[in-house]
Amino acid sequence: MPEVSQLESVMRYHERTKHHFSRYAAGPGRLEWANQPDPFRRYEGATLARLPLLGAGEAPRSPSYDSLFAPGAVAGEAVTVRTLSRFFEYSLALSAWKQVGGTRWALRANPSSGNLHPTEGYVLIGALPGVAEAAGLFHYAPKEHALERRADCPQALFARLMRGMPPRAFLMGMSSVYWREAWKYGERAFRYCQHDAGHALAALRIAAAALGWSAVVLEGLADETIETLLGLDRDPDFAGAEREDAELVMAVWPNAAAAGAQHGAALTLGLEPEAVRELARQRWHGKANRLSPEAPIPWEIIGSVAAASRKPQGEARTLNLPGPSAQKPHPDAGPAAGTIIRQRRSLVACDGRTSIPAARLYRMLARVMPRVEEEVLRRPVPWDAIPWAPAMDLCLFVHRVEGVEPGLYALARDPGRLGKLKESMRGEFAWEAPPGCPVDLPLYLLERGDARQLAAQLSCHQQIAGEGAFSLGMIAEFRETLVAHGPWFYRRLFWEAGAIGQLLYLEAEAAGVRATGIGCFFDDPVHQVFGFSGLAFQSLYHFTVGGAVDDPRLTTLPAYGDRSMRRSA
Ligand SMILES: Cc1cc2nc3c(=O)[nH]c(=O)nc-3n(C[C@H](O)[C@H](O)[C@H](O)COP(=O)(O)O)c2cc1C
Repeated sequence: MPEVSQLESVMRYHERTKHHFSRYAAGPGRLEWANQPDPFRRYEGATLARLPLLGAGEAPRSPSYDSLFAPGAVAGEAVTVRTLSRFFEYSLALSAWKQVGGTRWALRANPSSGNLHPTEGYVLIGALPGVAEAAGLFHYAPKEHALERRADCPQALFARLMRGMPPRAFLMGMSSVYWREAWKYGERAFRYCQHDAGHALAALRIAAAALGWSAVVLEGLADETIETLLGLDRDPDFAGAEREDAELVMAVWPNAAAAGAQHGAALTLGLEPEAVRELARQRWHGKANRLSPEAPIPWEIIGSVAAASRKPQGEARTLNLPGPSAQKPHPDAGPAAGTIIRQRRSLVACDGRTSIPAARLYRMLARVMPRVEEEVLRRPVPWDAIPWAPAMDLCLFVHRVEGVEPGLYALARDPGRLGKLKESMRGEFAWEAPPGCPVDLPLYLLERGDARQLAAQLSCHQQIAGEGAFSLGMIAEFRETLVAHGPWFYRRLFWEAGAIGQLLYLEAEAAGVRATGIGCFFDDPVHQVFGFSGLAFQSLYHFTVGGAVDDPRLTTLPAYGDRSMRRSA
């Protein structure tokens, strides 16, 4: 039974990469700065098509941030070179450069543990005037905001690959370079790469929503198929370069094109394996650049967990496309989605003062509710992109929320899991609804008290976890979920956690505060505080939200300043 040993391998990885008060998971100890991996992959020899840089006020204009979450409120844009440019701008593009002294580093729309950015993006798309004269597979190059043509795809083959998908659909693929995170974080790095993939997944879904597009993960695809589709298995193209591991593929489509023609129709979430092999036989372009001057340190356990959590071929899922929404268009009030997405940053220090009103906390938490009772494509953004049962709940440390007592809280994202949570957590917890909490938000006070020091201590002594308005641990229903689905589901738990994080980052910006993902926490001490024992529930990701203190030494530069200067020169 290979699956059993793979499951054991995943569990072993998880146990071994826990941080303990007495010892951190194994890392490199000392950073080899000279060997730091390049955060920008390029395919040398591949033609590069630059996407237009669009000003904030230029078409396509951003809808309001709130309208992204109101079904049918955003008018669907057609897929053009400009809308595709916005799609990447809002998801994987650079958002700024930071500078201190002679050092400069780029930030992106999507966050990343240690700003190391292991996630690479690919798009398989039909002919698009201005960027692709013919259909093909492209790699997204964030520094240039450009698409590199990796493979040609004859139109008939493209049509075959997209069979069962809505009109004008395209595919968005994602891979990880584990070495980018392992260089700094050693064995725990695989977890961070998966968090980052989840952040990118939600960033892409939210970017699509801003254009009136849908996006959903093709659940049944085997990693092997993704490797062939994205060309990750082409040994000569990676000779001497660090490899990328397959993560996921999403179908993206404009709702307007799907409405009418496809109303009520079924969407098949699969790809014909023979058509994917046919793509592999087409003309491919470019050779992957080397990211580190020296060979990567082989963190064997990362290789083992990556192998053990590979996704086998599953059934192609069929989802019903929702018909036109009954909801009235949402008033275009409040900050623009583009503004919120562009300004998203991690806080590096909290002011220890700023509070948020209870209503704001409830609204933020309502947005992370996946509403599992709905059909997948009727769930709210971004949860309609994840066609499997959500498995993460939240354990909160509330510090400064007006009208909500400080203390420990729990949010059952799937109300059906509430009973299990109660049974698994400390018997003395109160399970009281906080004042004014909407009846359909399963948020409960567990224990009153000042949890500031505790929260910071549990998050590797990081003050940001104790000095904000609130922080939290994302708790997975762990053992049962992995046993039920298989070891490959391990990655999906982290993707879901990353997606929660991405949404909370944006929610924090919309609330006038700021957030930070926290990958460093002491695993089992967190479980002890809430009373979880064994592997039934595991904390996979921490997060904090609060008032930010900026570092005055840093200068912020525009994301594509050089390119606009070159253009106007
Ligand atoms: C998975 C993940 C884990 C992170 N862990 C921490 C952490 O433990 N402590 C911290 O200060 N920042 C943490 N961060 C924030 C990153 O350092 C930050 O995203 C990165 O520097 C890029 O900056 P930006 O988010 O402002 O774009 C984490 C981010 C992610 C996505």
